[in-house]
Amino acid sequence: MGHIVVLPGDGIGPEIVAQAVRVLDVVNARFGLGLTHSEALIGGAAIDATGDPLPETTLTQAKAADAVLLGAVGGPAWDGLPMSQRPEKGLLRIRAGMELFANFRPAILYPELAHASTLKPEVVSGLDILIVRELIGGIYFGEPRGIEGAPGQRVGFNTDRYSEPEIERIGRIAFDAARARGGRLCSVDKANVLEVTVLWREVMTRLAADYPDVTLSHMYVDNAAMQLVRAPKQFDVVVTGNLFGDILSDAAAMLTGSIGMLPSASLNSAKQGLYEPCHGSAPDIAGTDTANPLATILSVAMMLMHTFNHREAATAIETAVQHVLATGFRTRDIATAAVDERIVGCQAMGDAVVTSLEGQ
Ligand code: IPM
Ligand code: MG
Repeated sequence: MGHIVVLPGDGIGPEIVAQAVRVLDVVNARFGLGLTHSEALIGGAAIDATGDPLPETTLTQAKAADAVLLGAVGGPAWDGLPMSQRPEKGLLRIRAGMELFANFRPAILYPELAHASTLKPEVVSGLDILIVRELIGGIYFGEPRGIEGAPGQRVGFNTDRYSEPEIERIGRIAFDAARARGGRLCSVDKANVLEVTVLWREVMTRLAADYPDVTLSHMYVDNAAMQLVRAPKQFDVVVTGNLFGDILSDAAAMLTGSIGMLPSASLNSAKQGLYEPCHGSAPDIAGTDTANPLATILSVAMMLMHTFNHREAATAIETAVQHVLATGFRTRDIATAAVDERIVGCQAMGDAVVTSLEGQ
């Protein structure tokens, strides 16, 4: 039992979400999950319909649901709007409104895609790392912020801030995740320059005492960016703040061959979650049926796992995705020049996953 609010959003959002919802419907029926879903507006689509990137009704429905499945927001049509009215604000406001402080971004390389990565296969093969990003604090939300002053002399400013309780709650989530995986946690900061991360490092170090089975290390963010492309397999779980997590997760995504493969889960303390691909709305390919729906489909698997505690259904989806990759199905973004590949569009990739699920 449970209800899911589906927010297709903008650009390729509606196309990838349509495929993910088909997959959801198949596992829902097969495992008798009793899940229901309804659609609502967010981002540019919501701006066009209501003038607001996150209409009150969307937030109310999302808060009342068990989970939210989101496509992507944003596009050139809304780029000219002031910051507070942009589609991205809808995403930031729903994250904050649902108190989704813990963002999980797993970067897993499917063996079939080792050659789709821009890095050498030996550097990325077997890659399995998890980035835990704090999602509703730090410089994204810190006050004061703004642009002030006389034309020609204006000053733009933001505030990076984290309280000890905020650091502690994301820290505990990350330590728990590391405990359930390889037992190694790397906390990424800029403690050689920024006080906010001096405190971050202090709190992480203090928490480590409660997790004797987890090995904690610290790394400056510039070094972490370098290490991610130099020797990414040294990482197990990475925990970091909002801005560094945004940047490092895009870098980690490319290790896996394409950002079109990366799902994400954003959870609050009630295990309500928002599930979305890590990639954006890709307006340049919207409507062309070429987008990769796998990140969104894998986000459904994360939803079944984290919010609905249904490992079997989640595994069924992951197995189906592995199977379609092994069978050679590729959307354009993960295609190489191999002869046994079948280049397909978004819809046909959805068909392949559904067929594979039905054949399990
Ligand atoms: C992400 C995105 C968002 C972010 C944007 C669209 C606001 O880049 O989810 O990583 O910066 O968090
Ligand atoms: Mg990002």
